[in-house]
Amino acid sequence: MDRILIRGGNRLSGRLPISGAKNAALTLMPCALLTDEPLTLRNLPRLADVDGFGHLLNQLGASTAIQGSRPEDFGRVMTIRAGTLTSTEAPYDIVRKMRASILVLGPLLGRGGEARVSLPGGCAIGNRPIDLHLKALEAIGAELEMAAGYVKATAPGGRLSGGNYRFPIVSVGATENVVMAAATARGTSRIENAAREPEIVDLCRCLVAMGASIDGIGTETLTIEGRDRLHGATYAVMPDRIEAGSYACAAAITGGSLELVNVAASDMRATLDALVEAGVTVEERARSVLIEATGGIGPLTLSTAPYPGFATDMQAQFMAMLCRADGASVLTETIFENRYMHVPELARMGADIRVHGRTAVVKGVDRLTGAPVMATDLRASMSLILAGLAAEGETQVSRVYHLDRGYERLEEKLSAVGADIERVGDG
Ligand code: EPZ
Repeated sequence: MDRILIRGGNRLSGRLPISGAKNAALTLMPCALLTDEPLTLRNLPRLADVDGFGHLLNQLGASTAIQGSRPEDFGRVMTIRAGTLTSTEAPYDIVRKMRASILVLGPLLGRGGEARVSLPGGCAIGNRPIDLHLKALEAIGAELEMAAGYVKATAPGGRLSGGNYRFPIVSVGATENVVMAAATARGTSRIENAAREPEIVDLCRCLVAMGASIDGIGTETLTIEGRDRLHGATYAVMPDRIEAGSYACAAAITGGSLELVNVAASDMRATLDALVEAGVTVEERARSVLIEATGGIGPLTLSTAPYPGFATDMQAQFMAMLCRADGASVLTETIFENRYMHVPELARMGADIRVHGRTAVVKGVDRLTGAPVMATDLRASMSLILAGLAAEGETQVSRVYHLDRGYERLEEKLSAVGADIERVGDG
């Protein structure tokens, strides 16, 4: 397994390109299942999870052709053709490795009225049930049966009826599944308390480009008029607001200055506001955001929340940055029950963090020191990279396959702006 070595202390400076959003790509790719015409996605990030989803689509009988892109280019163009499906099953060995595979459930139901998908099981940050996915799909006409760790979903008569559903809590993936399924239902569906993340907006815009009828895009109430069929389209994946926020924290923790290129500031308002509150200078430009941290970092009190609140996917990265703040910060994780796996690893680098249930108190320390640490989940891995960039001495992050799921060519991007970072294989 690869490791990443960082020798900390360099101030980062320069322009850093932001890739297409992982969490948009993983809901745009299954949209191809809703039509027998080609769906071409542009600005697709080179990520392990994108490759994994492509493999799943291939398993279902869809082809995924990457159009020529030079190795130095960020973002790829992929055309997905799901003209004839040879399977409607997402097997356990794929779903257990990538829970986003559950996002084929809605489209398969919407395409042909049947799907058999393995229950995803838990992961490092929580048990992550899919009960809301299932309840929402039932509300628009799906019939479900659970057996042997799989859910078998069918639409009576081969087509979902449509219907109304109000989510008891906000769920990004469940909103995505029911929106994709409702797009080709017989009638109209009204989804209330829907997730409003920018990735949901991206999904709705792609579906509309494919001929779907969706009102209320970007709000918590979506009204979807089912269409008999959807057609192909070409659609560009939105920039990755979490990758951008992660690198903004890299500028902050190293006291550097980074221009994040190809990013939409409007997608990351809560992150940018928190950085400004911490004393970081943020300058929004047409297609980029300039982050300058010249005067140190002030402490913050932050609570994660569904969009437009402060993203849970930014919690670990801010925690790393706040380890170097001049004072005590309080972070509360309200979305997942176990998203503090990075805390003991940061402590190995000299961080002073106390966790009480869902709340972490982070006391700023004068210095972090490099150490061998272990990645446990995607965003926790990034928090260790960030701490390593600011630490004295060498940090060695192992199990970096977690990072490769969500950060395209991380060490290349960071080296280009002055980080002393390299990837070493275990051979
Ligand atoms: C998506 O996960 C993202 N993943 C996550 O990003 C992100 O952290 C999360 O949304 C919240 O923003 C992708 O988009 C691929 P949820 P998802 O359903 O859809 C509970 C990353 O680092 N819940 O909004 O799985 C759930 O346990 C990843 O990029 C149910 O109880 O998240 C959690 O407590 C990590 N029943 C809360 O809702 C359900 O049926 C929010 O989960 C579904 C969810």
